[in-house]
Amino acid sequence: MARASLRKIVLASAVAGAIAVMSLGTLGCAPRATNLSDSGEDQQTEADTAAMTGDFTFSADADCTTCHSTEGDSLSDATMPAANHATQECTTCHSDIDGLANAHDGVQFGDKTPKRLKTTAVDTAACFSSSCHGSQEDLAAKTESCAILTDANGTVVNPHALPENDDHTSVDCGSCHSMHSDDAVEATAKKACKGCHHMDVYECNTCHE
Ligand code: HEC
Ligand code: HEC
Ligand code: HEC
Ligand code: HEC
Ligand code: HEC
Repeated sequence: MARASLRKIVLASAVAGAIAVMSLGTLGCAPRATNLSDSGEDQQTEADTAAMTGDFTFSADADCTTCHSTEGDSLSDATMPAANHATQECTTCHSDIDGLANAHDGVQFGDKTPKRLKTTAVDTAACFSSSCHGSQEDLAAKTESCAILTDANGTVVNPHALPENDDHTSVDCGSCHSMHSDDAVEATAKKACKGCHHMDVYECNTCHE
């Protein structure tokens, strides 16, 4: 059986992660000339009336769908979870405005937009605000009998009540609910586990030290 020390592996990946975050942090510290709250809106209005070319200066009030048409369209596509959220602003969920300002640093109209979040995250708090989704316990109650997450040994896990450990904190709503695509939750939820539970068994210690 595998003799790889899990602790060593987990530690190594944690260190790699920390380095990645640190270097992103350094990028994020690049000086920004623009005062968002003062001039962001004006500049965007100017940009809107211009031919949608050239530099983009991020502001929370910008028309996001000019560039993010996939995500914009998803709000009215009933096959996508976003459609249940059509009355929400983009920034209701993407509320890390400083992080977004950094992510858009140097962006120009016409640049390729990303297919996944790289430097920002959607805070789970947004999902529980305005009591839209009640509490974690309420969600767990709704999927008590859900058997989508069944591993090769027949162990069933409620997707909204994962056992608590450090690794599982990286699993958030968006890990399983692909907001702007029609990927089936059955598939994405299973995939969210496989990255770590690589043998499709919801444990580690049985095989690793
Ligand atoms: C001028 C075009 C443009 C506009 C307008 C725009 N974006 Fe973007 N956005 C981009 C591009 C290009 C990227 C990829 C930047 C990169 O990774 O270098 C991006 C990245 C992102 C990301 C991914 C961040 C991450 O974690 O990697 C999010 C989320 C996002 N934008 C949300 C928004 C929201 C919300 C708005 C409106 C308030 C908005 N964008 C307006 C072009 C735009
Ligand atoms: C109800 C919450 C919610 C709303 C509203 C929302 N998003 Fe998202 N968005 C998410 C979540 C969660 C993810 C990450 C999970 C995923 O991949 O779908 C995401 C992912 C993204 C990404 C990464 C690429 C992708 O498609 O996965 C971009 C860019 C983005 N959103 C932009 C936007 C823009 C622009 C709007 C408004 C038109 C918007 N979002 C509205 C929750 C939301
Ligand atoms: C580990 C994967 C996973 C995570 C993480 C997750 N979900 Fe789910 N969610 C599912 C699955 C699987 C279903 C059940 C789909 C079905 O049975 O058709 C579901 C169902 C739902 C439903 C519909 C419940 C109903 O039957 O009325 C809502 C709403 C929901 N999730 C919201 C959330 C929110 C909000 C979060 C974050 C706090 C979240 N989910 C986190 C996998 C997940
Ligand atoms: C980032 C890595 C990672 C991801 C993603 C992940 N797990 Fe785990 N999981 C672990 C590790 C590591 C352990 C062992 C923790 C320990 O033994 O202390 C574990 C343990 C477990 C256990 C046993 C917990 C216990 O206390 O006995 C279950 C059940 C489980 N995971 C289910 C899941 C499910 C279901 C998913 C997908 C929604 C998932 N995990 C996603 C890393 C992960
Ligand atoms: C059913 C048995 C089994 C389970 C359960 C299992 N593994 Fe493994 N794992 C293996 C085997 C077999 C290998 C291949 C080992 C080798 O070739 O050195 C392996 C390899 C690995 C490797 C690569 C090791 C290396 O040296 O390249 C990592 C990392 C790993 N497992 C992490 C985990 C984590 C984390 C969990 C729990 C979330 C887990 N494994 C659960 C059997 C298992």
